Amino acid sequence: LKKEAEAAIEAAKGLEQLRDVKVKYLGKKGELTTVLRGMKDLSAEDRPVIGGLANEVRTGLEKKLTEKEEELREAALDARLEAEAIDVTLAARPQPLGGIHPIAAVVEQIEDIFTGMGFEVAEGPEVETDQYNFEALNLPQDHPARDMQDSFYITPEILLRTHTSPVQVRTMEAKEGQVPVKIICPGKVYRRDDDDATHSHQFYQVEGLVVDRGIAMSELHGILATFAEKIFGMALETRLRPSYFPFTEPSVEMDITCIKCSGKGCRMCKQTGWIEILGAGMVHPRVLEGAGYDSERYTGFAFGMGPDRIALLKYGIDDIRHLYTNDLKFLRQFQSV
Ligand code: PHE
Repeated sequence: LKKEAEAAIEAAKGLEQLRDVKVKYLGKKGELTTVLRGMKDLSAEDRPVIGGLANEVRTGLEKKLTEKEEELREAALDARLEAEAIDVTLAARPQPLGGIHPIAAVVEQIEDIFTGMGFEVAEGPEVETDQYNFEALNLPQDHPARDMQDSFYITPEILLRTHTSPVQVRTMEAKEGQVPVKIICPGKVYRRDDDDATHSHQFYQVEGLVVDRGIAMSELHGILATFAEKIFGMALETRLRPSYFPFTEPSVEMDITCIKCSGKGCRMCKQTGWIEILGAGMVHPRVLEGAGYDSERYTGFAFGMGPDRIALLKYGIDDIRHLYTNDLKFLRQFQSV
């Protein structure tokens, strides 16, 4: 019986089986238990001998059972650890992350470049008063840009700003005549244009303004030329061409040499080899005075550019509407920008 039980314990393949073996031999109706129960039928001489032997066998079996149980538990734990092991060298599953929109990317790059040159970023409201959007910027009542055709008026006095230039005036007023003023103002602007490949009724601008003692046109050119090379990441030539804005005098537009393209040529290159990227000029004395700056003591320059246009040029996008239609196939191309 002892050998049989020992063999059964040894052969048990799991904790379940081992429990069965225990019941079979040591349980209430187990084989060894039966032997022990039968003791009362034995003679007085045999009883201690058989009893001692049976007890010895029981103790031995119990010990073996415990050992085996231990062994099986460990094996089970090992198996579980093995099965649940995490391979830390495996590559992670990719998480579907959004990308930065090309306009946001360009605005951020513009901000980085100008803050690197000591500019601060200022913001203003998109719903503006006629006073800030036009009047304070020296746009006379009959200026074509004030035509209802060009602006989204909410009331005769309130409109969606048509450019970021009102932030110039707001910033100067807030500074109460203090210099230096050295800001850029990024933001959305609105015009009543019919949307096509190059026009959008909503687009972005980044305005710049510097006011201090002795600010000259040469500084304007220097800063903008540096900016152009940084934003396009290549050596470029720039030229200032005379232009007209009511709030600057003199006014200019800055052209860059067209972006070099290979293969089928480049849409961005005009016949002339130059392409316009922004408007600028020396702040009109009337604008300075209106905002509380003594135009005899201080001069300043301002510029305004379109991040949309820069994004089109920089990334070779042929239609501004792509920037506003949220087509994922289009946007995914810029995930790493
Ligand atoms: N506000 C002008 C525009 O929207 C751009 C500009 C800004 C020009 C500042 C000169 C100086 O066209």
